[in-house]
Parts: sequence; C-alpha cells; structure tokens
Amino acid sequence: MRLFESLLSDGTAAALIGGRWQKGTNSFPVTNPATGEILAQVADLGEQEAREAVTAAQAAWSEWKALPAKRRAVILRAWFELIHEHTEALAELMTLEQGKPLAESRGEVAYGASFIEFFAEEAKRMSGETLPTHASDKRLLVLREPVGVVAAITPWNFPMAMITRKCAPAIAAGCTVVIKPAEATPLTALALAKLANEAGMPEGVINVVTASTPDAVGKVLTTDPRVRKVSFTGSTPVGKKLLAQCAGTVKKVSMELGGNAPFIVFDDADLDAAVAGAIASKFRNAGQTCVCTNRFLVQEGIYDAFVEALAEKAKALLVGDGRKPGTQIGPLINQAAVGKVQCHVDDAVAKGGRLLCGGHLHELGHSFYAPTVIAGATLEMRVASEETFGPLAPVFCFKEDEDAIAMANDTPFGLAAYFYTQDYRRIWRVMEGLEYGMVGVNEGLISTEVAPFVGIKESGLGCEGSRHGLEDFTELKYVCVGGL
Ligand code: SIN
Repeated sequence: MRLFESLLSDGTAAALIGGRWQKGTNSFPVTNPATGEILAQVADLGEQEAREAVTAAQAAWSEWKALPAKRRAVILRAWFELIHEHTEALAELMTLEQGKPLAESRGEVAYGASFIEFFAEEAKRMSGETLPTHASDKRLLVLREPVGVVAAITPWNFPMAMITRKCAPAIAAGCTVVIKPAEATPLTALALAKLANEAGMPEGVINVVTASTPDAVGKVLTTDPRVRKVSFTGSTPVGKKLLAQCAGTVKKVSMELGGNAPFIVFDDADLDAAVAGAIASKFRNAGQTCVCTNRFLVQEGIYDAFVEALAEKAKALLVGDGRKPGTQIGPLINQAAVGKVQCHVDDAVAKGGRLLCGGHLHELGHSFYAPTVIAGATLEMRVASEETFGPLAPVFCFKEDEDAIAMANDTPFGLAAYFYTQDYRRIWRVMEGLEYGMVGVNEGLISTEVAPFVGIKESGLGCEGSRHGLEDFTELKYVCVGGL
C-alpha cells in the first residue's frame, strides 16, 4: 500500500499540474463502494486549475512533439515497466475505490499497461506518404502530426485502462494530455501519474485535474481553444453534451459512449461455450462495462436449456468485497446504480418476466446486488431499450435468424454484439447483418489493445486501441513542394 500512502500528504491526495502536485483549497472524499468507508480526501479543483493544466500542457507540447518517437517510446516503456512492478499496489487501490474483485483489478492493470507498451512501439511506425505528382515540377507529401493538447475525460468503471487507452496513443504520437478522472475513482489516476513522473515523463506532458463535480473542469476542457482534441468515455447523454460544447472551437473528438449489447444464441450453438461466454460477457465488473451484454436473444429450440444453465451458473457466482479471495462479483459503484438495476428488475417482473435467480440486493446489503436472470423478457420491458449497467440478464426468445438480427439492431446504439452458432454460413450472414462496431463470434470477451475499440450510431465516434487509435491523435498535413 506504499503507493497509495505516497499519494497522500496531510491525508489529502493532490492533483498534478505542470509537474507540481496541487491541493487547492477544497477537497472531496473518495469512498470504498464495498463498505462506504472514506478512503481519502482528494483535491477538489475547478475552472482556474483546469486552465492552468491546459497552459502547462500547451507549454510542454512543443518540446514533447519535437522528440523522436523512439525517445518518447523509451519513457513510455519505463512507465509500462513501473506499472508492472506495482501491479499489486495498483490492483489493491483500484479494488478499494472501484470495488471490482482483485483478480479483475490485476487483469485491468495488465490490460491498461498493454496500451502503453503497444503505442510506444506503434508510434515508431507512424508514417506519412508521398503521392504521385500531378505536375513534373512539383512533389507531394502527406505528413502526420500530433493533434496538440488532448483532454481525456474518463469513467469510473475502468479507472486505469480508460486512461491509458486514451493517453498512451496521445503521448506516443507527440501530444500532451490533461486528464479529468471520474470523481469516484481519482486515486488510480493519480497513482498512474506518479509512476509516469518516476518514469521520466517531462513536466506538463501528463496533467491530472481532480474535481468532485465534472461541470466546471469539463467546460474548460471542451471550450478552451488550446485543447485540440477531447476524448471521452461515458454515457451517451453526457457525450452529446460534450460534443455540443466542443463544437464552438471545432475540436477533434473521440466518444466512447453507451451500448445495448445483444448476445444471440442460435439453436446449433455449443451450449456450454455459450453459457461460459454469457457469464463472462454479462457479469464482468458486476455488469458495469459498456460492452457487457444487456440483452440475451435465444432461439426457441435451445431457450429452456440455455436459461436453466445460465441461471445455475449465475446463482453460483461468489458475491463479496473485492479484496476477499475468490470474489467474482463486487459491489455496484453507488446507490444510484443499485436503484437502476432494481428498477429494471421490477419493471421486467411487473411485465411478466420470470425471475430465475436474484432480483434483489445481495444478503451483504449496501451496494451488493445478487446476480439476476429473468426469462420471458419482452420488447415492452425497459431492459429491451435501456442499458442496465449491472448484474441483470434478461433473456428474450426468437424464432428465425432474421428476427434475431432485427431485434439486435433495433436500438440507437451500436457498440458490441455477440453471437454463438456452429454454422459457418450463419456466421457470415449474422456478422454482416449486425449494425455494431465490434462483434464477438463464439466469444464473450473481445477487448484487446491490438484491436479497434469502436462504436457506431449513438455509441460513439472515433476509435481507440490498435494502430487506428494512434491515428486518432494525429492530423494530416499535405505539403506541395513546387518550383522543382
Ligand atoms: C468500457 O466499458 O468502456 C470498456 C470496456 C473494455 O475495454 O472492455
């Protein structure tokens, strides 16, 4: 726990602006969602500090972008190594403030660090183009340049990986960043920044502005003309508001927003594999990821067997404090999250859904919710159209393949979709028919640093991860050299 303690001086964790740790005059508490216990006070900053952070990032930018990619990669690699060395401390900190089981936190540390390793390498391969000229006395070039100061506004469900998935490519490409971490999970962000400092990251390249409410800082980051790109992960309504704010200064944006992921099981699916994929996709992080399955669509021939097996496995999941060995489902982030799950459950049951397990707070109480499976789900239920973001698995029934594709696409969202079948013709037909940015075929966990994380429709704009995620932090510059 030395890492955590080193963040605190006089009991308050400071934010990082221009290489200086700043506490401001106010602070806010960060609590453990498993117990309600206050873990630490964190600097509660506002408009002025957000502007100072942008100034620091702007000042650091010219030197940082001028460094060869290889030199930037050396610093990123040192950061990656330090994160690995501190895996246990980071994982404990993450579990304390976010609640996920330690095994998942360790997984997130590895996942988060993988973006730093990947983009440090990838930036060395970022290249421009020469074009065939249209005139013999001219030569045409296309350069790729870093976009400038980037604002990263990040969520609480992945306190580390959503920061590194944005900041590693930005920094690798030669940008500088101002991070506004979620108010529920700022400690992991500060620990990451501390390790970046130790790795030799120059002052001002990474700035972290913590705040108890997002509006004042968010307003600066989306309206200050010196910020050239905003990358946000969070809900679609908040994303739309930030997009509107960004329009005034025509910023580049990446938006990783909400989902309503379908998980389709066809009659010919391997039942055991489908149930294992369903559990992984639905109950990871207690159902609090935007790629978690929101709706199970199951063909009538396999329906009964699937719901029975799913309920049996869901019932057996071990709910508890994430620090306790063996815990598979931690607490939900707060009481509002518990309220939303309960609302969706009550609505589904009132409309005829059959509760096969759960449907109530877990016996541990507080913010622990029992894994829940509801059979007989219908399109009138709120779970059909709204993202639950919790451990609730509603199971719908369908007859024909076309019905499943139509149901899956009947949503304004288009983030992740999953389906299970053993028929190769169906694989191609369904995969091509799904209007989603990411599709898992006979697979319930699809995230990796090497592949694009991408949403279509109201699930997002731009791309994170993969080489495309690096391009998102660059601009093209066309150069015409004449008079030759
Ligand atoms: C998210 O929920 O926003 C990210 C999930 C992932 O990276 O798998």
